[in-house]
Parts: sequence; structure tokens; C-alpha cells
Amino acid sequence: MSTSRVTMGIEGLDAMLEGGLINPSICALIGTYGTGKTTLGIQFIAEGLLKKEKCIYISLDERVDMIQGIMKQRGWDVAPYVNKSLFVIKLDPTNFNLMINSIKEELFELIEKTGATRVVIDPISLFEGTFSSSVDRRLELIRFIEMMRDQPCTLLMTSETESNNPLMSRYGLIEYLVDTVILLRYYRPADMMTPVHLAVEVVKMRQSKHSREIKPFEILQDQILVYSGANVF
Ligand SMILES: Nc1ncnc2c1ncn2[C@@H]1O[C@H](COP(=O)(O)OP(=O)(O)OP(=O)(O)O)[C@@H](O)[C@H]1O
Ligand SMILES: [Mg+2]
Repeated sequence: MSTSRVTMGIEGLDAMLEGGLINPSICALIGTYGTGKTTLGIQFIAEGLLKKEKCIYISLDERVDMIQGIMKQRGWDVAPYVNKSLFVIKLDPTNFNLMINSIKEELFELIEKTGATRVVIDPISLFEGTFSSSVDRRLELIRFIEMMRDQPCTLLMTSETESNNPLMSRYGLIEYLVDTVILLRYYRPADMMTPVHLAVEVVKMRQSKHSREIKPFEILQDQILVYSGANVF
């Protein structure tokens, strides 16, 4: 049986993913500040809108007007889609009870009501950070991911890294729970005078013979380019 795929709309990255993310599945997009997590999350949503899918974007850091502003700046005027096929929600990561209830109850209701096939949570690490104990964090994240597995949609969660390890999510947990892990990072050429570049890597992808290469990529005003022919290391 062939697996159904959901494209990211970034040619080089979709090729690395053997055609796209598996539909349905859960993906973590991990990277330190400024590596393009929000930009790729928004691209994933824009691709869904282009394909006439219903999409939910849950932001834990940027405000709704900011997200829509970023979309517009990138050439995607999403105003006609808002509250019709695009649902952007801002959750307050400082209000733990409200956030956990919103994520656990309202999100599932919204998915059912709208028939959304793509959901982005940006960044899930702020949700993880609201738990005071690592046991609670682990249990709640497992519970949430298990509930998401019953939904007929593809979930992309971004996750921040810790400053001392740009290769792992802040709590080192999500990598084990999701189906796909995409890592974004900086690399600085050895001569120290050449500008810092960005690189993307598919670290894990269940049920797929994905690429293991590390490819340079660039964020341009209106597109994200993965240089499939080039090598970083
Ligand atoms: N319109 C644009 N044109 C060109 N480059 C852009 C544009 N928008 C963003 N960038 C580049 O993309 C980078 C990544 O931005 P983005 O907000 O996606 O990162 P992030 O990983 O979500 O960061 P954070 O962890 O701080 O939320 C920016 O630092 C900038 O260099
Ligand atoms: Mg961001």
C-alpha cells in the first residue's frame, strides 16, 4: 500500500522526505533561534491553503496579526482564507491552565468542526516549559500526542533547542514521540569570514527511506530554497 504524503511546498525538502510528510503523522521541526522554524511552519500552512485544505496555526509566541503580517510579507495574502480555511490561534504560554485546556479541548473540537488536515504548533517547547516537573511534562506530552494520533490530520510542531546543544529539542523528549524529526541549524564555514549558512536535515522518519544528507537552505523573501545539489560538510 502506498503511503499518502503531504507536501511542505519546498521542493528540495519534499524530496528529502520521500515526497512529503506522511498523512496523517506527527512531525517535529527542531532548531535554535532564527533557523526558520516559524517560516517553514507558515510555508507548510500556505501549501495547504494552496491545495484547498483547511489549516490551523497555533502560535505560542507570535501574535495573530504578526503571523498574518509574516504571511502577507512573504506574498501570501491570507486575509480571504482567515476563519474560512485558515484558523490562527494565539495561546498564552504564561497561563498554564488556559493553555492546556485550549490545546486539549478546543483544538480537537476545532479540528473536527473545520475538517483541518494540517495543524502547526509553534513552538511546542513553550507548552513543554509550563510543567514544573519533568514527569508531568513527559506524561502530558505523551497524552497530547496520543490524542493527536486519533485525528485525521498532519501535525507539525516546532521546537526550540537549548543553547548548549543545537541538535536536540530543549527537553530532549519530543524526538522520541513523533514520527518525523527535521533539524534546522546554522553552520559557520571554517574560514570564519564567510557568512553563516542554514542547513536542513531529516534525522528521523518512520516508514520512510528518507534522505540522511545535510543540505544548505536559504530563506528568501517569497520562497525557501533547499540546495539539493550542494553539500554542507
Ligand atoms: N521575508 C524574509 N526575507 C528574507 N529572510 C527572511 C524573511 N523572513 C525571515 N527571514 C530570515 O529567516 C530567519 C528565520 O526566521 P524565523 O522567525 O522563521 O525563525 P525561528 O526559527 O522561528 O526563530 P525563533 O526561534 O526566534 O522563533 C530570520 O532570522 C531571517 O534571517
Ligand atoms: Mg519562531
